[in-house]
Amino acid sequence: MVQPVLSPLVERPAHVPEALVYDLDYYADPGVLQDAHGRALQVAKEAPGVFWTPRQGGHWVLRSHNAVFEASRDTERFSNAPISFEQLQAIIESLPEGAPKPLIPAPITFDPPHHAVYRNPLQKAFSPKAMNVLKDNIRALAVELIEKVKPQGGCAFVKDISEPMPVTIFLQMFGLPVDRQREYRDLVEEHFAQTDKDPQLIQARLRKVADVMRDAILERKDNPQNDLISLLWDSEFNGQKATLHDIENYAVMLFTAGLDTVVNGMALGAVHLAKNPQLQAEMRAHPEKTSDLTEEMLRRYTFTLPPRFVAEDCEFQGVQMKKGEMALLFLPGADLDAAEYPNPEVFDANREGKPHIAFGAGPHRCLGSHLARIELNILYEEMMARLPEFRLDPDKPLTYHGGHVWGPNEVYLKWDV
Ligand code: HEM
Repeated sequence: MVQPVLSPLVERPAHVPEALVYDLDYYADPGVLQDAHGRALQVAKEAPGVFWTPRQGGHWVLRSHNAVFEASRDTERFSNAPISFEQLQAIIESLPEGAPKPLIPAPITFDPPHHAVYRNPLQKAFSPKAMNVLKDNIRALAVELIEKVKPQGGCAFVKDISEPMPVTIFLQMFGLPVDRQREYRDLVEEHFAQTDKDPQLIQARLRKVADVMRDAILERKDNPQNDLISLLWDSEFNGQKATLHDIENYAVMLFTAGLDTVVNGMALGAVHLAKNPQLQAEMRAHPEKTSDLTEEMLRRYTFTLPPRFVAEDCEFQGVQMKKGEMALLFLPGADLDAAEYPNPEVFDANREGKPHIAFGAGPHRCLGSHLARIELNILYEEMMARLPEFRLDPDKPLTYHGGHVWGPNEVYLKWDV
């Protein structure tokens, strides 16, 4: 894996007060690469609730729970769309006949009211009822993966378990060939590893992702199956039948969200369990507490950092912001905010009070949260039931990646056989 390079410092713009400057490179901060949530905790303790970092070209970071929650629901001031819907339509209409259209991950890149048009077709497909049907299949896969490594006395947890499990489930749901998962996963990693913001390069990467799915998407148009691609072909957008472009827009979104998030969530959970044998013993004795464990894992190790674009010159929580600036929703810091969670660094599966914000808030709140929760719960249950006490391999220290999804690069576990 290529070591990310700390981005250069840029000059503070005149409208940013010096007291609001705090140095955090969300891609390549040395503290993040060494211990992502150690650094998140430090930021939560030290940085202003809304701060400006001179890294990655200079941008805002919303760190307090209150700021993240307010901005997530305020789509007038904080947009998910790098350019407006109307500008986008104008670009698409100006393209010559047959030219490839820009890919717009849907529904996440749309603001209300267009956002609902793209979110609605998926709502039922990701509902708790629809996800519950998958439980047996998910459990069978978890058991297979764990039993495969059990006699070895250890494993590379990401490669052996936390990658293949959610990725297989997602590919089956979407209707993509499971035997090509390595190829798909490499593309996602390539996509998330890039820090450049050049729209042409971003488009080229998204196009690569769409292209590997193109045959399966086209094939499903004439030969519908019980999968998401077929469901999307059957949907309408603003009264028009779905087009290949619509489905590619969903594919690039779901592909990245579905393949990268759960992988990192599971890996962060495995690290915590491996470091805490007493917690493992408690969970083995009380499997009925697994869902509380999962929720506290999601809070203590919240790991996504969704971007927003300031839609108009405005004042937000007493801070002047300018149209077009980037504001990162620092969810890991929001869930470690001492103003909301007393002793936030303490892992307490019996914690009461405010629910975490790991799945976001407002109209873009995670569509895959029911699926993610089922996968995490089942994995922890089966690990506790099937593996003896496990620990981190002391010869293979942990390293982390930054970006919009934080997590360990690999987690080497050991146990006695
Ligand atoms: C533990 C795992 C996961 C976490 C922590 C997570 C987190 C999030 C967060 C924070 C958002 C909001 C982004 C924003 O506000 O811009 C989001 C949106 C989304 N997530 Fe997840 N996610 C997870 C798993 C999944 C899975 C498994 C899928 C699908 C297979 C998925 C699909 C989506 C979609 C489609 C959206 C966009 C929703 C919209 O814009 O309306 N997520 N996720």
